[in-house]
Parts: sequence; structure tokens; C-alpha cells
Amino acid sequence: MTKNIEIRPVGADERAAWEPLWNGYLTFYKATLKPGATDTAWQRFHDPREPMHLLGAYVDGKLTGIVQYLFHRSTWTPGDYCYLQDLFVDSSARGMGLGRALIEAVYEKAKAAGASRVHWLTQNDNAQARILYDQVADNSGFMQYRKVF
Ligand SMILES: CC(C)(COP(=O)(O)OP(=O)(O)OC[C@H]1O[C@@H](n2cnc3c(N)ncnc32)[C@H](O)[C@@H]1OP(=O)(O)O)[C@@H](O)C(=O)NCCC(=O)NCCS
Repeated sequence: MTKNIEIRPVGADERAAWEPLWNGYLTFYKATLKPGATDTAWQRFHDPREPMHLLGAYVDGKLTGIVQYLFHRSTWTPGDYCYLQDLFVDSSARGMGLGRALIEAVYEKAKAAGASRVHWLTQNDNAQARILYDQVADNSGFMQYRKVF
């Protein structure tokens, strides 16, 4: 049976549906956040003064995937760039186009905001994600250096 797929912002009253996906993403990266980080991110997604945004993929009304992105300044262009920071689809729903739909929805939001670029990072060995990324964007060839404090 055909499933109904909808991409839309995740409402401020939907934290209970969002948090398992967010935690799934953090588990995927074996990441532990500082206390308060999740609360702050959630609050920022729903504060119109903040440049941070959250979209959800709903399958027959159930929140099944998320993408989190933010706009930032660039010295190279008067408009902002858009950084796609987090993308996660529930393991039960992978391979049905939700990841692609979430990325393409960010493209539309970025264009509407006047941004000239959407960019993101992935690990070299994230083969599953790269199957998708190689279809929807170009590998910039840049390496990321990082100093953590
Ligand atoms: C990366 C991720 C978001 C992709 O989500 P998704 O909804 O499965 O993506 P899509 O279905 O849009 O595209 C996946 C592509 O891989 C292909 N694929 C083949 N077998 C697959 C499988 N068993 N599972 C998933 N994708 C599969 C799909 O067919 C599709 O290619 P196509 O468009 O040519 O058909 C998802 O795998 C995920 O959440 N992974 C864990 C977290 C992660 O890696 N996030 C990204 C960090 S940078």
C-alpha cells in the first residue's frame, strides 16, 4: 500500500516524537552531549530569532526522520550559507526516500532564504549515507580539521 509521506517543521508540542530520533542519531555517532544541549537545541528550533531549524519526515503521520540545519554568514557571499548538521531516518524506514526528501526540503528552505549553498559533512566510511549524498550533491574534496575544547 502506498504510504503518505510529508515533510514539515516539527512542532513545539512534538518533542516526545522527536527525541527518540535525536537520541538514535547521537547513538549512531556514539556521542554524549553536555547537559542542557538537547534542551537548548529544542528551544532554538522553535525560536524565530534563531537561525537553527528542524524538519521532520512523517510516514502516515508518524515522525520517522529528521533533518536539522542552520544558516550562517560567509565572507564569500553577501547571503548566508546553510549548514545541514544532522540527518537521521529511523532504521525501519531506510531506503524509501525519506533521507533524500529531507535533504531536498532543506534545499528549498535555503533557496527561499537566499542562501547560495547547502553543505554538510560525513565520515569517509559512512557508505550508506554516501550512496545518497553522491546522488544529490558534489563531494567538495575538503578535509575537516578539528580542535575540541
Ligand atoms: C543516511 C540516511 C539518513 C539515509 O536515509 P534514507 O531515508 O535511507 O535515504 P534514502 O532512502 O533517501 O536514500 C538511500 C539510498 O541508498 C539506497 N539503499 C539501498 N539499500 C538501502 C538500505 N538497505 N537502506 C537504506 N538505503 C538503501 C537507496 O536505494 C537510496 O538510493 P536510491 O535513491 O538510488 O534508491 C540513513 O541511512 C540514516 O539515518 N543513517 C544513520 C545516520 C546517518 O548516517 N546520518 C547521516 C550522517 S552524515
